Amino acid sequence: MNNGKIKSTLLNALEDAGRLLETSLAKKKVIEKKSELSLVTETDKQAEEIVISHIKGSFHDHAILTEESPPAGGSPYRWIIDPLDGTTNFVHGYPVACVSIAFEDHGELVLGGIFDPFRNELFIGEKDRGATLNGNSIAVSEITSLEDALVATGFPYDRRERPDSYLSIVKAFMMKIQGLRRTGSAALDLAYIACGRFDGFWEFQLQPWDKAAGLVILKEAGAKATNYLGEPLTLEDTQNLVSNGLLHQEMLEVLEPFKDIKR
Ligand code: IPD
Ligand code: CA
Ligand code: CA
Repeated sequence: MNNGKIKSTLLNALEDAGRLLETSLAKKKVIEKKSELSLVTETDKQAEEIVISHIKGSFHDHAILTEESPPAGGSPYRWIIDPLDGTTNFVHGYPVACVSIAFEDHGELVLGGIFDPFRNELFIGEKDRGATLNGNSIAVSEITSLEDALVATGFPYDRRERPDSYLSIVKAFMMKIQGLRRTGSAALDLAYIACGRFDGFWEFQLQPWDKAAGLVILKEAGAKATNYLGEPLTLEDTQNLVSNGLLHQEMLEVLEPFKDIKR
């Protein structure tokens, strides 16, 4: 594989799609509902087209898994794309959103990039080569107790079907942590753990495109990512727990009573 070409394709796609998000934020949006709470805008689709055209321009035979289109291709080389993570924020003009792209080689995630065009922050993780934010090396925080931890979560789109379960977990964490944030962009939540801004994160039901790039960045930054049983997190897992590693056991204990929800 031509690693240089893969990385430059990923960087160019992040930059061009990210600039579209930036210039579209304040404009009137064309919005559709994918489900009761899940939105998609014309910008999600345009950003996706931009990313796909970069990939197809360089690697016409690679497989692509992307949020707004059916999966394509049967290659061992696969791109996993969230063209706009944080769509609800974006719809409201709330500038917390990003583009997230990962590259997988024979089932292994080897490169991930998350670009926040509103802060000009580019997070990159490369297998065995570390994680960076705007070119500077990053690592997870050194917080050792939930009492001192700033933790993030997200509320799944099926939250109206099981509000009590989800709220019970929020309550259980609230009794232990220093602060809780809900940014509305799971990809940025993961990137923020990688650079030490957040110390932990949990959320049910992330899709592969929400977390693929984040997982590479997290691993390279020294984070731990598992399901609620403590098993290594896969793209298919519905239970997602990420921490700086030092808090993982304490977070698993908080989640213990809930480990059968959405397994
Ligand atoms: C969503 C965001 C949100 C998370 C949802 C995701 P989208 O992605 O990452 O933070 O709570 O689970 O679906 O729809 O904005 O790409
Ligand atoms: Ca997403
Ligand atoms: Ca999206």
